[in-house]
Amino acid sequence: MPQTLTFLGLESSCDDTAAAVVRHAPDGAAQILSSVVAGQDALHAAFGGVVPEIAARAHAERMDLCVEDALLQAGVTLADLDGIAVTAGPGLIGGVLAGVMCAKGLAAVTGLPLIGVNHLAGHALTPRLTDGLAFPYLMLLVSGGHCQFLRVDSATDFTRLGGTIDDAPGEAFDKTAKLLGLPQPGGPAVEREAVLGDARRFAFPRPLLDRPGCDFSFSGLKTALLRTRDAVVAEKGGLTIQDRRDLCAGFQAAVADVMAEKSRRALAACPGMTAFAVAGGVAANATLRARLEAVAVVAGVRFIAPPLRLCTDNAAMIAWAGIEKTLIGACDPADLVARPRWPLDSTSPSMLGAGKKGAKA
Ligand code: KG4
Ligand code: ZN
Repeated sequence: MPQTLTFLGLESSCDDTAAAVVRHAPDGAAQILSSVVAGQDALHAAFGGVVPEIAARAHAERMDLCVEDALLQAGVTLADLDGIAVTAGPGLIGGVLAGVMCAKGLAAVTGLPLIGVNHLAGHALTPRLTDGLAFPYLMLLVSGGHCQFLRVDSATDFTRLGGTIDDAPGEAFDKTAKLLGLPQPGGPAVEREAVLGDARRFAFPRPLLDRPGCDFSFSGLKTALLRTRDAVVAEKGGLTIQDRRDLCAGFQAAVADVMAEKSRRALAACPGMTAFAVAGGVAANATLRARLEAVAVVAGVRFIAPPLRLCTDNAAMIAWAGIEKTLIGACDPADLVARPRWPLDSTSPSMLGAGKKGAKA
């Protein structure tokens, strides 16, 4: 039965402490009343990656402030809510626990229903929040911690078609930036340099293109970049500005070629999709977006890239996923256990381990 539902969402699985209020109207329309994200870049900057203990402590310290802010900005009180949704995994377990404990406290005080949400489901359902997209659709999730193709058939029915067997693409961009002396986060810095570079000067591999399927590998690409950089330095005694630009352009072109071809294959394996959607920080890259959009056009499906603030980690997507689960009665108390790993598609074999941002489901 159509109904108005107003949910508070909490997210703390990595290095963003986030709270948001989202409303679902009886006609199906979604409205983000507030979305507060407190990032932790400065806390981890000196360590070259996210330090789980520091992240967990910061989440525990900041979550209640983010909730207060989210309620204030939304113009609602706890009494106006119909439920609380919280990321229960996968992610860095100390952070996930901080969010779950805060949500449990709020639910105990208010008596509101508490829904455990899979962080990846939050990303995967975002095109329904932003564009009202109908099932089934294909999603490519590419960030610093995630890399997978998901066929989304319902709010609880996800099929993984492929993913990374080593690093996430955002990690590869970040490591490339580090190797070339560019600032973090590396993705935007590499993209800025690549625009001014010649992608054909250096030949980088296109990992796993020679094998069937939709899996990715990025660690070899990073090694190739290191070797090419060292060869240029050995030859010239250092890198010129143009060398750096050409290296970035060559690296980005390799990533774009691989992502475009794997996306073509994933779409070919899933006829009848309503759209091809992307999410995650790496989806901010204009070259990659354009290539992925071109693949969707050729396949004859709509291309959807949500606004960046909803592509990256946020709590609006968690509140929305909680609403979707509630609407179909899929709220399972077992989902409220904080889990470092929680594959969306339990039938696919588990992929590889932990990158700089923690476990990849
Ligand atoms: O989704 P996100 O904000 O956080 C998680 O990883 O969960 O993604 C951050 C990642 C970083 O690795 C960053 O370098 C990458 O997304 N990124 C980009 C761009 N902007 C951010 N990668 C390539 N091109 C970009 N323009
Ligand atoms: Zn994420």
